[in-house]
Amino acid sequence: MTSSIIDSIIKARYLREGESSFEDICRRVAKAMGKDEKEISDFYEEMASFRFLPNSPTLMNAGTKLGQLSACFTLYVGDSIEEIFDAVKWGALIHKTGGGTGYNFSNIRPEGESVCSTEGVASGPISFMKVFNAATDVIKQGGRRRGANMGILNVWHPDILKFIESKKNEGDISNFNISVMVNDEFMRLVEAGEFDRTWIKHSDTGEEITVGSVWNGIIDGIWANGEPGVLFYDEINRKNMTPNLGLIDTTNPCGEQPLFHFESCVLGSLNLSKFLIEGKLDKTALERSTRLAVRFLDEIIDKNVYPIPQIEEATKKTRKIGLGLMGVHDALLILGIPYDSLEGRKFCEDTMEFVNKIGIDESHRLSEEKSEFPALKGSAWEDYAVRNAAVTTIAPTGTISILADCSSGIEPVFSYAYTRKDTVQKTFEILHPIFERELDKVVKSVAKNASESEELKREAIDTVHKTGSVQGIKWLPDDFKRIFKTALDIDWRSHVLMQAAFQKHVHASISKTINMPNSATKKDIESVLLLAWHEKLKGLTIYRTGSRQSVVLELSSDS
Ligand code: CDP
Repeated sequence: MTSSIIDSIIKARYLREGESSFEDICRRVAKAMGKDEKEISDFYEEMASFRFLPNSPTLMNAGTKLGQLSACFTLYVGDSIEEIFDAVKWGALIHKTGGGTGYNFSNIRPEGESVCSTEGVASGPISFMKVFNAATDVIKQGGRRRGANMGILNVWHPDILKFIESKKNEGDISNFNISVMVNDEFMRLVEAGEFDRTWIKHSDTGEEITVGSVWNGIIDGIWANGEPGVLFYDEINRKNMTPNLGLIDTTNPCGEQPLFHFESCVLGSLNLSKFLIEGKLDKTALERSTRLAVRFLDEIIDKNVYPIPQIEEATKKTRKIGLGLMGVHDALLILGIPYDSLEGRKFCEDTMEFVNKIGIDESHRLSEEKSEFPALKGSAWEDYAVRNAAVTTIAPTGTISILADCSSGIEPVFSYAYTRKDTVQKTFEILHPIFERELDKVVKSVAKNASESEELKREAIDTVHKTGSVQGIKWLPDDFKRIFKTALDIDWRSHVLMQAAFQKHVHASISKTINMPNSATKKDIESVLLLAWHEKLKGLTIYRTGSRQSVVLELSSDS
């Protein structure tokens, strides 16, 4: 990424009065979080070297009057007008500070059911979602980014079909990602092919909805434009670290944080591409940064300025933090390991296991130094006290990975060459640095002289611009093509298996898109969902290339 683009993002989003560089931001954030000079200097080094970055709200608000540092929130939505509009208000307060909100709307009675107080009929959850959507439109998050929401409906809610179709027209409820919360019972019926079986009966209207109509609705929606996402209720709750506090039915906007109502979570990501030494993982450095990151994120829970008291109370009860990885595909590229290989998955699983283990250990140390999280008794941590009921997650790292100039989260690189406009509409050609370095080596070995080598390089880059891939370039060695695959070159099975490899050692969940080719069929989408369920994912997003009109995939003009 060119420094001009990174500079414009820093300027538009993160700089505060008196600041002019990324280092200034790191200094402000480190000072706000560190307990003494040593810790301030350690935190600064972690961020300024791009080994670790906290989520955007921390970079924006730490050390300022706003002081709201978390990216993820979930809220409670009840069935009364008072409760619904309380949630609208709380959501607005959260968006104002740069956070995103998740809501499960299943408490709201279905459309057509009676309303005692007015002797009228209920308008159902989907009509209320439009109110939340409009409120989001008017509140631009902290003036710095657009508000994001997750809207969830349980698969056993009578309005499920209307919900699934609520984003059929692009532009409707545009500030929401929507996800259906499915349970094992539903998935078992699907797998058994019991499509004609009645799944839900509307108590007032008597309308019956079959398993097949819900399942086909989900598949049709995903095939048409990538929505709804799917969340696996039973898996989320089997892995709930604090079942003593109840069941979880909601996640934050990008799905990586299943949370109790009113909980919030601060995220931070280690840039794996910075932890390689002589073709191997530098475990000593990774351990050090993991420990510092856990301390940093835990500190935020106490320094945070919470939008409403209920959120402060719920957050401090479990003290969840969300430490994850970014730059994962970059690390694989440097190591020369294909993303879609057993070796790639093994490396990722082992690395995540290591980060998770060290993260838990540091949280344990913190519990001894300070105290354990208050809801420890009856939780999964009773025998090994920790300060944070959940330590790890995988965030999308949409903006912080641009700052760190690394591949986002655990996603494969989308394109190795593309053009991008900065805020003043100046166009830049962006070449992935590892790709360029390795391509240079290859063209030198294939070409007879310098000018031929230049020509070959140009041809390869032009092909990537046109087709998005190097796979069709005949003269490139197979080894190179095997490693430099893009998100679209990688088959859906490998996408799912990579997510599953990480999920084994992640307490919360994972933000990831399962990319599929435009030619993918509805049957293929069905196979993805069933594999994801068997592989114990907590949720997933599927996107069929080119299916969304507004995101017409312009390989040459976007990342
Ligand atoms: O990279 P950055 O820290 O900006 O954020 P991310 O990792 O892409 O997203 C992390 C979380 O921030 C999301 O899951 C949302 O909860 C929240 N978010 C938001 O509220 N609004 C956005 N425009 C983007 C992210």
